[in-house]
Amino acid sequence: MALKITVIGTGYLGATHAAAMAELGFEVLGLDVVPEKIEMLQRGEVPMYEPGLEELLRKHVAGIEGSSGRLRFTMDFAEVAAFGDVHFVCVNTPQKHGEYACDMSYVDSAFAQLAPHLTKPALVVGKSTVPVGSADRLARELAAAAPVGAEAELAWNPEFLREGFAVKDTLHPDRIVVGVRSAHAEKLLREVYAGPVGEGSPFVVTDFPTSELVKTAANSFLATKISFINAMAEVCEAAGGDVVKLAEALGYDDRIGKKFLRAGIGFGGGCLPKDIRAFMARAGELGADQALTFLREIDSINMRRRGQMVEMAREALGGGSFLGKRVAVLGATFKPDSDDVRDSPALNVAGQIHLQGGQVTVYDPKGMANAGRLFPTLAYAESAVDAVRGADAVLHLTEWREFRELDPEALGEVASERLILDGRNALDPAVWRAAGWTYRAMGRPSA
Ligand code: UDX
Repeated sequence: MALKITVIGTGYLGATHAAAMAELGFEVLGLDVVPEKIEMLQRGEVPMYEPGLEELLRKHVAGIEGSSGRLRFTMDFAEVAAFGDVHFVCVNTPQKHGEYACDMSYVDSAFAQLAPHLTKPALVVGKSTVPVGSADRLARELAAAAPVGAEAELAWNPEFLREGFAVKDTLHPDRIVVGVRSAHAEKLLREVYAGPVGEGSPFVVTDFPTSELVKTAANSFLATKISFINAMAEVCEAAGGDVVKLAEALGYDDRIGKKFLRAGIGFGGGCLPKDIRAFMARAGELGADQALTFLREIDSINMRRRGQMVEMAREALGGGSFLGKRVAVLGATFKPDSDDVRDSPALNVAGQIHLQGGQVTVYDPKGMANAGRLFPTLAYAESAVDAVRGADAVLHLTEWREFRELDPEALGEVASERLILDGRNALDPAVWRAAGWTYRAMGRPSA
């Protein structure tokens, strides 16, 4: 009989995982503790913007006309325990307030609420990003709290999905990593992932600590690549070089590769910044902090970029104060194709200029509602053109396709000054300059 799957936590990761599991043919029961989320999902609505996810959900949620009916939602842990053979824990692990460490309270609470209901053998699979060593502790706690004892087994299966590509990354992952302690756990997970593995996704079997580390190591490497190219951008700025050309030339070396070498205002979001910090905190607890001191530098190069963008804008506007200057900010989300504004470099820059007296107007294709909640004192416009109307400077801070397709000529008609600063090195300088704009970008010569 086909395995029955549950997904605990229906945020970014969980909602996508649940829909993907239904797409792979399994009966799926998703759980969340927030009633509004469950109500939305039951109607086939996604609580965030993620390309393709709503379609996938509507294809499977029970009760929606024409759906497979394989995906249902509940708030009841007892129902989840009775239903599932494999339970995926997909709750989030944010940064602890005022500390570097990871906040494990949602994971701990999910395990604590599920375990007492496990009266039949089950595999509980952690997907959340956790400090190394968590799986070992959770496995012990699970076996102690579950009525079936050791037949409530744990496995760790980190998730590598990117926002904006969540559906594709879940159905066609670069790799599937499983930390297991028994052949039985491996067999169940091979069954779950038979679809993607059959299409060529590598299946890497390892122990608990390695599986937890793959995730934090991958994100540390990605963060390092971005901060490396941003450090090169700083040197280019000092030496008169062009970091975009530099990155292109570096990328032809297969060992380096082209990806994640886009210099600009740096990385943000709900993952990279908090994951490298939690990794440093955990290494400290393990007595291995020296191994990760470089990550402190990666973090500080990254955070420095935001201030450098503010200074670049100040200088381009003639130096001195921002008082009385009108600044249009294009982009609020931490990256395009997402409505996520968590630790967004774009909003940070907008906020800094606003605090220094600038009149900032922000426009973002999908992030306006979230940005407005986080920064209610900023002004927001309905379109890029409206944001730019009367602006003394335009700051391009999140590289949405919509911004690359703007007509510099038409925009020049409404701007007060034709001055654009590209914080993402994503616009074509030649096109903007041809339309009479002063175009400046991070890590590139100004003319
Ligand atoms: C990241 C990892 O890529 C993913 O594998 C993991 O599961 C979760 O964390 P995500 O946070 O969705 O995914 O975003 P990502 O595409 O990695 O971008 C992160 C940040 O880096 C964004 O702010 C982006 O603008 C920035 N970035 C990315 C750069 O500044 N330059 C680059 O070259 C690439």
